[in-house]
Amino acid sequence: MGRPVGSPPLSASFAAAARAIAHRLSGGQGAAVPRTPAVADLVYRGTRYWGLAQVRCGRLAQQKPDPEILALLAIAWAAIDQMLRESYVVVDEAVAAAKELTRAAGRSDIAAKKVAGFVNALLRASLSDPVASAKDREQPIARWNAPAWWIERVYADHKDGAEAILDALITRAPLTVRLCEPYLEFQQFINALNDKGLAGYSVGRNAVAIEPAVPVTEIPGFSQGWASVQDSAAQLVIDPVQEFCRRLGRPPKILDACAAPGGKTFAIAQSVQAEIWAADVSPARLKRMRDDWARILPTAQSSLQFVLLDVLDESGWSKQPGLDAHFDLILLDAPCTGSGIARRQPEIPWRRDPAGLKAVVDTQRRMLDTLWRRLLPGGELIFVTCSVFAAEGEAQESAFLGRTPDARPLPSPGRLLPVTNAECGNDQDGFFYARFQKQKHDGPDAGDAHHRHADAGLGRAR
Ligand SMILES: C[S@@+](CC[C@H](N)C(=O)[O-])C[C@H]1O[C@@H](n2cnc3c(N)ncnc32)[C@H](O)[C@@H]1O
Repeated sequence: MGRPVGSPPLSASFAAAARAIAHRLSGGQGAAVPRTPAVADLVYRGTRYWGLAQVRCGRLAQQKPDPEILALLAIAWAAIDQMLRESYVVVDEAVAAAKELTRAAGRSDIAAKKVAGFVNALLRASLSDPVASAKDREQPIARWNAPAWWIERVYADHKDGAEAILDALITRAPLTVRLCEPYLEFQQFINALNDKGLAGYSVGRNAVAIEPAVPVTEIPGFSQGWASVQDSAAQLVIDPVQEFCRRLGRPPKILDACAAPGGKTFAIAQSVQAEIWAADVSPARLKRMRDDWARILPTAQSSLQFVLLDVLDESGWSKQPGLDAHFDLILLDAPCTGSGIARRQPEIPWRRDPAGLKAVVDTQRRMLDTLWRRLLPGGELIFVTCSVFAAEGEAQESAFLGRTPDARPLPSPGRLLPVTNAECGNDQDGFFYARFQKQKHDGPDAGDAHHRHADAGLGRAR
């Protein structure tokens, strides 16, 4: 297949993608280089092969290469396996990219030749021994594209269910949107997709998976706020919030404590009448959310106030007028490992470690305790993480209940495992939900007393 006139050589795209992968997987935040769609695609494919590249380099090379060269090999092996080009073309382009990357790093022509020779030798060695190459792919680190500790953790937490979870996390997730009814109904949306040559499948009450993925501006109804990108498991936050609002009988005061970039806040704002406070510690993420709110506002039923706040900083609360009161409902969509969304962001397993997991679990614990104090008696706290680890789910929930006598668990979506099969109507990221109600008394009649209190107390005018 020839290169379209005006497009960069494949070696340049390989080099750009290798830089971006190495940057992301060495702890950087954004892409190291501007990405074209072709480069973004190579970044995704190469990141999915990061584990295989480690296994194969461990077998074939005496020394682990620099991250950019390792990333280049991952891209090349992905391109060969997925037959993006003939394998000899991939090898030639990868060799050229190796030279480019080495020269761009300020190293000599001799060094560039040496690195190019190394890349050439490894790619050819893997091609000449397909049996050993197939065995590489069977190694857990390569198969599930995750470090050993991560895989062990999933096995420890999910036992017989672990393999299905790990398999789901390496699939390519569809683009899923949430429809804002009654502005856009399912069949109307499907017709609009079909008119654009796209297909859509229902994967939840208002959730539609779109194939193939398109830029958001191509999604029918996106600019009007009628359709928003959101995984089907994330959309389930609406159910407990609607149930709470029905019970309360008046618009609640809701705190979304970790709100940006706003997926759940906007889903709530479009589904119930409420006074919502959207807090986040990140100015950049909060700005992005504020900008996107303009799209949602015409269809919103709730009012929304944005607050730049570190919820763990007690002094920050009193600095914000109106924030220092208590809330009827608090959503804690907590910072987490993101282990449940690795199918969307395959770099996630490589950017985490056991110490980071422990730290984030501790942050979640402190957030739960801090926010609990901000909740009115009779109020509810919804705790959410997009993780498959029990430490950020079931264990966090039971530890909280163990140390919080006035917390009563309520039904919630609970543990949601990652699944990829949009055409069968079954597709979601891995999530965990827990829901707690704050009781007024600790006595044996606490539940009933609480309900009486909630119905009477929460009904008063504010
Ligand atoms: C899982 S994301 C929230 C996603 C969001 N709820 C949504 O549905 O689009 C977690 C958020 O918590 C924020 N965060 C982390 N630590 C925080 C803190 N101490 N106080 C407030 N927000 C915090 C992060 O900036 C991040 O935006």
